Amino acid sequence: MAAVQRDLTRRLQEAGLASPLPEARALLMHVLHLDWTGLVLASGRAVTPDERDALEDLLRRRVRGVPLQHLLGEVEWGGVTLRVTGAALVPRPETEVLLDLTLAVLEGRPGAALLDVGTGTGALALAVAAARPDVRVTASDVSVDALRLARVNAERLGLDVSFLHSDLLAGVAGRFAVIVSNPPYLPDADRASATPEVRHDPDLALYGGPDGLTLVRVLMRQAPACLERGGCVLLELDPRNVHVLAAELAGSGWRTEVRADLTGRDRFLLATLAAEGHTT
Ligand SMILES: C[S@@+](CC[C@H](N)C(=O)[O-])C[C@H]1O[C@@H](n2cnc3c(N)ncnc32)[C@H](O)[C@@H]1O
Repeated sequence: MAAVQRDLTRRLQEAGLASPLPEARALLMHVLHLDWTGLVLASGRAVTPDERDALEDLLRRRVRGVPLQHLLGEVEWGGVTLRVTGAALVPRPETEVLLDLTLAVLEGRPGAALLDVGTGTGALALAVAAARPDVRVTASDVSVDALRLARVNAERLGLDVSFLHSDLLAGVAGRFAVIVSNPPYLPDADRASATPEVRHDPDLALYGGPDGLTLVRVLMRQAPACLERGGCVLLELDPRNVHVLAAELAGSGWRTEVRADLTGRDRFLLATLAAEGHTT
């Protein structure tokens, strides 16, 4: 087993992958149905021909750019295990900061109503529901396939979340204390330079018009009608356009705060409607 792990690591490294050893271990654990401790304890055992074939198949696909999470079929994110497929974006580590900001905003708001717009795998909605069972969580997406996957994830986790098929906030009834969204925010031109891994995410999840802000501008125009008094919107955006949107919102009755991601790049926007801007 140790030799197989070394060989996998070397071939992943030669293919230019950034984390060859953790990926080699992840593939081995997946094929051998072992956890981390099991893998360590099994270091002396031989790999069967079937297991070797399965590893070769996964390695070939990984080297061609299939995301590791698609090969493993699931990802640990925000304290929950999510099934991932090509139907929705693989949840990103930086979005865990958006989750933390959301949980911070929910502190002191027992029983609050929260809407996750563009839920994808259900990541944000389900992680909030797991951390705060008192919060009434609704998750929406325009993609029927993504919604189907998010429902599967909710069932697997046994979490109580309402799902809504909706184009942004069109037709959304009721008001929410918190609206959170990691919308498609990349400028369309980024499509040309997307890595093979990113090309496995649906375009619908990634691109947000010429400057990346087309969808989020619509969302923010719709938001006042869906927010409770004192409610707020939390957004993940591209560091290239977060201040552009913050300036636009400041000019239209929103108070905004920009927050950085773990690499120090401004990426998140917290927007609160000034009292006089609230629609009743
Ligand atoms: C960047 S992904 C975020 C997925 C998930 N929230 C996450 O953080 O991993 C954006 C999501 O927005 C959805 N989406 C795209 N356009 C939309 C629209 N007009 N209305 C609602 N959802 C939309 C996509 O289907 C996709 O699931």
